[in-house]
Amino acid sequence: MTQKIKGFIYLNGKILEMKQAKIPVLDHGFLYGDSVYETLRTYNGYPLQLKDHIDRLFRSAKSIHLPPPKNKKQFKAIILKTIQAYFKKFKKEDVYIRIIISRGFGDIGFDLHLCPSPNLIIIMKKVSVIPQKHYQNGVHLILVPRIRNNPKALDPNIKSGNYLNNLLAYLEAKRKGGFDAIMLNAQGHLTEGTRSNLFLVHKNKLYTPHLKSGLLKGLTRSLIFETCKKHKIPLIEKTLKPKDLFLAQEAFTCSSLQAILPVVRVSHKKIGKGKPGPLTKKLMHTFQNAIEDSIRREHCLDS
Ligand SMILES: Cc1ncc(COP(=O)(O)O)c(C=O)c1O
Repeated sequence: MTQKIKGFIYLNGKILEMKQAKIPVLDHGFLYGDSVYETLRTYNGYPLQLKDHIDRLFRSAKSIHLPPPKNKKQFKAIILKTIQAYFKKFKKEDVYIRIIISRGFGDIGFDLHLCPSPNLIIIMKKVSVIPQKHYQNGVHLILVPRIRNNPKALDPNIKSGNYLNNLLAYLEAKRKGGFDAIMLNAQGHLTEGTRSNLFLVHKNKLYTPHLKSGLLKGLTRSLIFETCKKHKIPLIEKTLKPKDLFLAQEAFTCSSLQAILPVVRVSHKKIGKGKPGPLTKKLMHTFQNAIEDSIRREHCLDS
């Protein structure tokens, strides 16, 4: 049975039905995972941190020697226009946006000249929200044996289309009854979730793994840094170990798609009292305002 997915795909200038959008088998994004991407969403019709997502997409592209097919200004214009097309077709309901630049079509081989034209793809579909009960009760994550990519092999700070490391970690966590996984690095330090960053609360201070542990510099993570600064919530970025997680009173993960999600158990052990704690709840609330402020600033809206 084929699934009907509400949305459409922008492919190199054309807007196509989900099933009509096709990439050649010889696209190196398909053959080698040779692509970069970003995921974001709109709130009340406006994309959150669009500029930052485009900046990170360009940084990722540069790291893999992939020339973006448009400049940043053109990217922004295309994305905003595509969002408008989505709202026209599907009413103004919030949209999930995945922007992909793949290496493009070319003969088998690794030489860059084989693929002169990168493909630009933007997937637009209805935001699939995590059930409210998970925000209310928190989720159970599993510390999986699979380690996060070593930065010397494939830097987790490059948001590349090669996500097998994370996908397999997620499946391991699912098999053990978890909602998702937390991954360590080769030194046994905490890194991040499979598609999210990790925060802990210990004695009313927030802690998050240092970037040098090998993780994606999440944009939600950055917005939480800003929020903590504004509200004078102490936040420390440092090397963290699993024992820090089990000693924590609270924990949560964050990403552009899920915002802040409380974590109440890890590998079948309770975190704190086993329910979302006061600082997490406060941040969840404050973060809503941070989202609104960020959108107002970026899209020059009146307050
Ligand atoms: C591995 C990984 N870490 C963290 C994040 C969170 O990043 P952001 O807040 O920019 O969405 C993501 C998001 O997709 C991710 O894939």
